[in-house]
Amino acid sequence: MTDTCTEAPSTYAASAEFAAQANATADLYDHANRDRLGFWAAQADRLSWQTPFSQVLDFSDAPFAKWFVDGRLNVAYNCVDRHVEAGLGERVAIHWEGEPVGDRRTITYGELYTDVCRAANALTGLGLRAGDRVAIYMPMVPEAVVAMLACARLGVMHSVVFAGYSAAALKARIDDAEAKLVITTDGQYRRGQAVPLKESVDEAISAGTDASTVEHVLVVRRTGIETPWSEGRDVWWHDVVNSASPEHTPEAFDSEHPLFLLYTSGTTGKPKGIIHTSGGYLTQTAYTHHYVFDIKPETDVYWCTADIGWITGHSYVVYGPLANGATQVLYEGTPASPDEHRHFEIIEKYGVTIYYTAPTLVRTFMKWGRDIADAHNLSSLRLLGTVGEPINPEAWRWYRDVFGANETPIVDTWWQTETGAAMISPLPGVTVCKPGSATRPLPGISARVVDDNGNLIEPSPELGEHASGYLVLDAPWPSMLRGIWGDQDRFRETYWSRFAEQGWYFAGDGARYDLDGNIWVLGRIDDVMNVSGHRISTAEVESALVGHSHVAEAAVVGASDEHTGQAIIAFVILQADSADGGKHMVDELRAEVAREISPIARPKEIHVVPELPKTRSGKIMRRLLRDVAEGRELGDTSTLLDPAVFEAIRNAR
Ligand code: PRX
Repeated sequence: MTDTCTEAPSTYAASAEFAAQANATADLYDHANRDRLGFWAAQADRLSWQTPFSQVLDFSDAPFAKWFVDGRLNVAYNCVDRHVEAGLGERVAIHWEGEPVGDRRTITYGELYTDVCRAANALTGLGLRAGDRVAIYMPMVPEAVVAMLACARLGVMHSVVFAGYSAAALKARIDDAEAKLVITTDGQYRRGQAVPLKESVDEAISAGTDASTVEHVLVVRRTGIETPWSEGRDVWWHDVVNSASPEHTPEAFDSEHPLFLLYTSGTTGKPKGIIHTSGGYLTQTAYTHHYVFDIKPETDVYWCTADIGWITGHSYVVYGPLANGATQVLYEGTPASPDEHRHFEIIEKYGVTIYYTAPTLVRTFMKWGRDIADAHNLSSLRLLGTVGEPINPEAWRWYRDVFGANETPIVDTWWQTETGAAMISPLPGVTVCKPGSATRPLPGISARVVDDNGNLIEPSPELGEHASGYLVLDAPWPSMLRGIWGDQDRFRETYWSRFAEQGWYFAGDGARYDLDGNIWVLGRIDDVMNVSGHRISTAEVESALVGHSHVAEAAVVGASDEHTGQAIIAFVILQADSADGGKHMVDELRAEVAREISPIARPKEIHVVPELPKTRSGKIMRRLLRDVAEGRELGDTSTLLDPAVFEAIRNAR
């Protein structure tokens, strides 16, 4: 254990000042416990319904839920029009910062209204009707948000495909959804360079033998680079959107009308098109955004760094914040362009008050060193958040210290593409935070940690806190997925078969309770190792390794071992200033893990490597590391950001 760890407190309560002004109060839990459905009905009342719902939940056809039955609403109206009608047309909705320095736009709710109406009219002109699918393949430009809202306004489902994905990945998603339209840009900026994007759309549409379902490609001119053009099929955004009428009357759709599809990876390699619908999804994103981020729309400047290609970008860049009338930052580029100061400059420039990002980025900032952050005035920040993976306590403390002046609450939010919105998270101002734990299910949400037979795993002073189990959601929630596009058998099989008897949703994550009843999410089940009959999470071992002052990043996998079932194999990147990657360091790190967790968690092998294999969304691809650790041919590397890293890893072994 490093010195900082031994001395650091294990719990962090919000300041009295924060608690006094917090949106959340402890009685939310009481309300939800007393009357769960009444609680959700009250949350749904934050929205504007054209026809009120007659029933909160109908789960008679489980696992297919209907929330806010018979209610009708328009999602885009709720995110835009109603704020303008309330006299907030002048409020900034989006401070957009392009990747090239100096490239910026400010978009008010009034302007967003006009843009969304024009785009909706243009889409109608291109033949789109409620129920159709549109693929959106765009960088983080305001038009991407406008495109999503225009689809929502028309009851057309969007399927946003991350603009870092290949043409092949785009094609698979277009084909599966049978999209009629693709919205894209001519190109995008990548570390200062304009690179083509629409070319990939052309490739996706023309590849294969079957005719594509795509009738039109709508192209935003972003970079001005030369773009291939198919007359009749391709249309410029500035031609058809800018000339469209700025008035559009929204139609109300059923609460269960599908809102979007979002593809996420499964275990089979074929991406799953996760289906989300309207009323329940918007209710829970707006509710969680209000309480978890303590949003004060009049004064806060909120920044969620996620790309719209992921669920976090859907729920906490587009729908949640806009439903709440928030002012937010939208940034097009990477954190290191043109240099490592960029995020800090943006926080300083716009006076960002709430900052929500991924632990992997926090660890990157740590690697860069605190001098970069310290060169900026970050005093506007009052709340921090993380999502996407367990955050190691070391990174949590660094984040709070360096970004949050040792003061701000941090909300570690656990959720998934499938859950649509945050599920387990502290309520800032109410919950005592513990670094590394997402703490408790939010009011209205029910989760538990169980063993194979569905028995609750209860921590006890005798057993300690290391018994882990499966995280399940044992009650339906409004923003739950409504299925997998075109494959409802897979939906049942993946999420509902493991605990079919109990009717619980199987999240695919391992978790444990601590003695205070907080939940610690340990990572995907396939990331939980079994060593000599002991369950040990890769995340726990990684956290121990990263807790060592010389380690910048670590990835741990369980490799088959004839003696112990699985053996722990670690890959570590050392801090820039620690040159020693030799045996001495490896021994020290093994001892550190034994000290931090237990001798049974001591890695069998530790390899010092220059890079880790990551997906474009920043997730470490443990599957591939397992292949390396077990000396196999590498599996599918198509979603890797940089396939060349394996050369370096192999050389380092
Ligand atoms: O393993 C959990 C991890 O990310 C998974 C969901 O990934 P995705 O669908 O891509 O959505 C990410 C953004 C919501 C989960 O099954 N995960 C997400 N948040 C946390 C987390 N693990 C631990 N702590 C979290 N806060």
